[in-house]
Amino acid sequence: MAAAIYVEDVWFQYKEEDPAVVQDLSLSIGAREFVAVLGRNGSGKSTFAHMINGLLLPTRGKVEVKGRNVADEANHSWLRQRVGMVFQNPEHQFVAATVRDDIAFGLENIGMPREKMIERIEWSAKKTGISELLDAEPHRLSGGQKQRAAIAGVLALKPSILVFDEATSMLDPYGRKEVLATLTGLFEEENITIIMITHDIKEALQAERILVLEEGKLLLDQTPAGLCNEGDRLRARGYEWPYFIEMQQELTRQGVHLPTYYVTEEEWVEALWMLSSKM
Ligand SMILES: Nc1ncnc2c1ncn2[C@@H]1O[C@H](COP(=O)(O)OP(=O)(O)OP(=O)(O)O)[C@@H](O)[C@H]1O
Ligand SMILES: [Mg+2]
Repeated sequence: MAAAIYVEDVWFQYKEEDPAVVQDLSLSIGAREFVAVLGRNGSGKSTFAHMINGLLLPTRGKVEVKGRNVADEANHSWLRQRVGMVFQNPEHQFVAATVRDDIAFGLENIGMPREKMIERIEWSAKKTGISELLDAEPHRLSGGQKQRAAIAGVLALKPSILVFDEATSMLDPYGRKEVLATLTGLFEEENITIIMITHDIKEALQAERILVLEEGKLLLDQTPAGLCNEGDRLRARGYEWPYFIEMQQELTRQGVHLPTYYVTEEEWVEALWMLSSKM
């Protein structure tokens, strides 16, 4: 079966005279993978994301979504429906006066019959926990609610790939948690590939696989535990590790054997509990 996303020797330049902001990128992402793309400002994350749904076309190389070349214009409306994007600023993602109408707008665009539309709106609202908010005006919602409403809007189209481009970066910790929980819930329940772009390591560790971009190049392609092994390398590049990972990195440096890195706070607390009960 074709990969969900297949990228081969891709380069991207915004202008011919500018340097390439994505360079020599090759990777493959399977269906039902949850992948984080980690990178500092300007590392090419959004450019990469926009090449997945054909908003930008590679200057060189090839990007395929489920075996279809994004450069082929005949695939564009198919792509827009298959690849849902959620962006950073929750304010900029609404066109209608209520959440319900906003979700309906996207469905009208693909010519969905009314009966099916009503059903689909209810479904996607339920999946994102906003059923109670369907009649609300988008601008009255909290940041986290706005992002979940935006997710409902793209989810209603039943995409096979969802791309979150720093979708939590403007939210407070509570909103961030809400949106991350929605995202991981969708991954567990739906047959979907998730690409989560972030510059936050703690957030990236929630994924199954982490791609680190640096100046448009793929620096690392790692599991969460594998990424934690790259402590110094990423620290030297200005990344801040969550304290509970730093603690594990320090213990490992001191010669304490940990069977693995515990990539969530809860797992680490549990592991500490086990360790201390053996002492
Ligand atoms: N429309 C554009 N025209 C010219 N250069 C651009 C354009 N958009 C982005 N760039 C440049 O391309 C490079 C990569 O930008 P990109 O937005 O992909 O990075 P990013 O990793 O998403 O950054 P951020 O974390 O700030 O969102 C940067 O140097 C940026 O200045
Ligand atoms: Mg960006």
